[in-house]
Amino acid sequence: MRPAIASALMPLVRGMNPEGAHNLSLHALRLGLAGRDKGPDDLVLAVRALGLAFRNPVGLAAGFDKNAVAVLPLMRLGFGFVEAGTATPRPQAGNPRPRLFRLPEDRAVINRFGFNNEGIAAFAARLAALPRPLPAVLGANIGINKEGAVPERDIPALYAAVAVQADYVTINVSSPNTPGLRDLQGEARLAAILDATLAARAELPRRPPVLVKIAPDLAEGAVEAIVGTCADRDVAGLIVSNTTIARPDTLRSIHRAEAGGLSGRPLFQPSTELLRRVHRLSRGRLTLIGAGGVESGETAYAKIKAGATLVQLYAAFAYGGPALVGRIKRDLAALLHRDGVKTLSDAIGVEA
Ligand SMILES: Cc1cc2nc3c(=O)[nH]c(=O)nc-3n(C[C@H](O)[C@H](O)[C@H](O)COP(=O)(O)O)c2cc1C
Repeated sequence: MRPAIASALMPLVRGMNPEGAHNLSLHALRLGLAGRDKGPDDLVLAVRALGLAFRNPVGLAAGFDKNAVAVLPLMRLGFGFVEAGTATPRPQAGNPRPRLFRLPEDRAVINRFGFNNEGIAAFAARLAALPRPLPAVLGANIGINKEGAVPERDIPALYAAVAVQADYVTINVSSPNTPGLRDLQGEARLAAILDATLAARAELPRRPPVLVKIAPDLAEGAVEAIVGTCADRDVAGLIVSNTTIARPDTLRSIHRAEAGGLSGRPLFQPSTELLRRVHRLSRGRLTLIGAGGVESGETAYAKIKAGATLVQLYAAFAYGGPALVGRIKRDLAALLHRDGVKTLSDAIGVEA
């Protein structure tokens, strides 16, 4: 099935319950039914970051492929990078269903999955079974279990478990659906976790760069503290941002009051504002990945101009299907050419 056909089927999938539709999409991808983006990408989209070469800056955000079951087919859709996970030390079931809600009038999604996943051993084994070289950059996103977690112990162990396979590793301290998780963004706690992880990393033969994924709901001073804590250490970058617990007044869909993290179009503005601030504060010391409401070449470009080197999407991909990836890349390349930008790196942070 070509992307166009897969996209044409999206309305059918949309009639199902959202989690069922998501699982069906993953299944279709695993079976190779979603088609391929026939490259090559426009050379203006190529970017070097995190010590890695990206064919294009458009990535799939964490949470779509929590168990790394469809990494290769997802890469073949044309993403420059795919971030699998979040994987936790032990398998866990997550929150009771329903836990995923579409807000179509708002082009948004609310989820309260709570890190349902098969655990780091199964995750790492799947990454190890992937054929190399991969057609895109592979990120691994790690987080703690709801019960019995000791972050300063667990995060370094999770990092070590994926270090052989992943091109970069994201520490997720910002999901709103694991009680207490976002407290790990506090300065002292984050410093302790990073120091433990970086110490473990120093002992390993392969040491992929470490990123930290942050929430869009941080207080003013907290952002400065996080940027300082990361920039003072060997942290390569930040992902800005995870889903929000805020509920803008503009939301219209019936599910707007569901508990969980909101993402998609209503997250674009707040997450891009935060990105701009983080870019200013980090003064080039951190590589930034912009996530939150990326749905077009224009929104991807806006993230880059606000300071992102790379972007990620989830909600718009869930709505738009595989064909969206090619469209975003084409439109972004056209915008860069229109503005006379020779290489994407020249556009990073120009409006920060
Ligand atoms: C259903 C769903 C599940 C998600 N699960 C995860 C996750 O496991 N780990 C994570 O770091 N982010 C997770 N996210 C957050 C996304 O990676 C992304 O940061 C956020 O959705 C903003 O991007 P978007 O507006 O393009 O969706 C999830 C998002 C959604 C919609």
